[in-house]
Amino acid sequence: MEAESGLSVMENIRDNGFDELLALCGGCLSCATCHVHVQDGWMDAVGAPGDDEDDLLESSDHKQPNSRLSCQIEMTDALDGLAVRIAPED
Ligand code: FES
Repeated sequence: MEAESGLSVMENIRDNGFDELLALCGGCLSCATCHVHVQDGWMDAVGAPGDDEDDLLESSDHKQPNSRLSCQIEMTDALDGLAVRIAPED
């Protein structure tokens, strides 16, 4: 899909009609329903989760080393080609 820079990865996924990504809190880092698994090789470009984000991810049974909350990843040109998988619902 085409992603728009300046929006979060969550907003891009949602705007493209993937309703598996619930993103219930709308991106204010309080729900963890925008959990994605970043594809191999992209974690360095995407970066590690912040402390608050990591705390929320701890509440998921599907947390992996490549877990991120997609509302906390801003889409930039540097992430052109990024692939993520929507984590299973908790
Ligand atoms: S949308 Fe709720 S934490 Fe990302």
